[in-house]
Amino acid sequence: MMKATAKAPANIGFIKYWGKRDEELRLPLNSSISITLSNCFTITTVKFSKNFKRGSFKIVGEETTKKEKERVLKHLDRIRKKAGINFKARVLSQNSFPKKAGIASSASGFAALTVAASKAAGLKLSQKELSILARQGSGSACRSIPDGFVEWKAGSKNENSYSQSLYPPTYWNLRDLVVVVKDPIKKVGSTAAMKLSLKNPYFKKRLQQLPKRIKKIKKALTKKDFALLGEMIEEDAVDFHAIIMTSKPPIFYWNKVTMDIIHKVIELREEGIVESYFTIDAGPNVHLICQAKDALSLKKEIQKIKGVQKIIVNKPASGAHLINQHLF
Ligand code: DP6
Repeated sequence: MMKATAKAPANIGFIKYWGKRDEELRLPLNSSISITLSNCFTITTVKFSKNFKRGSFKIVGEETTKKEKERVLKHLDRIRKKAGINFKARVLSQNSFPKKAGIASSASGFAALTVAASKAAGLKLSQKELSILARQGSGSACRSIPDGFVEWKAGSKNENSYSQSLYPPTYWNLRDLVVVVKDPIKKVGSTAAMKLSLKNPYFKKRLQQLPKRIKKIKKALTKKDFALLGEMIEEDAVDFHAIIMTSKPPIFYWNKVTMDIIHKVIELREEGIVESYFTIDAGPNVHLICQAKDALSLKKEIQKIKGVQKIIVNKPASGAHLINQHLF
């Protein structure tokens, strides 16, 4: 049967992927590091059939735009080409989080699509090949293929730009609290914002600093040095947003609530109440990295902030994998 279903986690960048050397292949200008997220995921079922007159792509409970449909179709074409088939496909996806929550769904979405569609098309791909393929759908999706703590080595061409697991999910008992803030729909997508950043002089500066920062983050992971890890996560998040805020035209992803959360996290840390560190993707939601023992008290404190809508607590998770329960 040419049908398969996969589940893939979203991931949060400790070192952000920002800037492409090749738009079409989605080859990044820098290596990045992330963890996969247990409670933010996408499940996708793909079926190819010679009887289908036309293809379809739907997300349960959500509207899909023409642009999104085209991007999915293009990805299916990559897989059809690899498998040497030309059947139409039916694709149904379900996110564990609503798209309007502003949690990046392209990473989990394209990782799940890649694993499900390759299997349904009869391909037998290695984890490396799946990561390379997922990357072409959305860069960050290649980091949702392996388990746990993940590194995406930038590489120089299609064949050597992919992600690998540095440590399994259970290696370090960390949590990522995704703090969903009010009015979180992002206005400028990451693909477009990234392109704008290339012309920014601060962009080059960040690239120069990254090898040192990556080295420090890897050391923090090896030694389980939480303070060092946190320092590097925040440093990179702030650098990355400074670039976005100073591009022309500037993009402001943070809103008032974002800022209130940042101040609170620093205050809790400096007063010795809870140690956590923030990072932020291309939107106003804040990710708070903490140790498992502190997750509950941190959640309680952050929930008090006006404008916080929801907090999703995540552990490092398994990467994308096939599952038996199909969506149709
Ligand atoms: C801010 O993977 O969404 O989340 O390759 O254009 O699809 P495309 O970009 P995308 O970029 C995500 C960037 C980020 C940082 C990160 O996750 O590393």
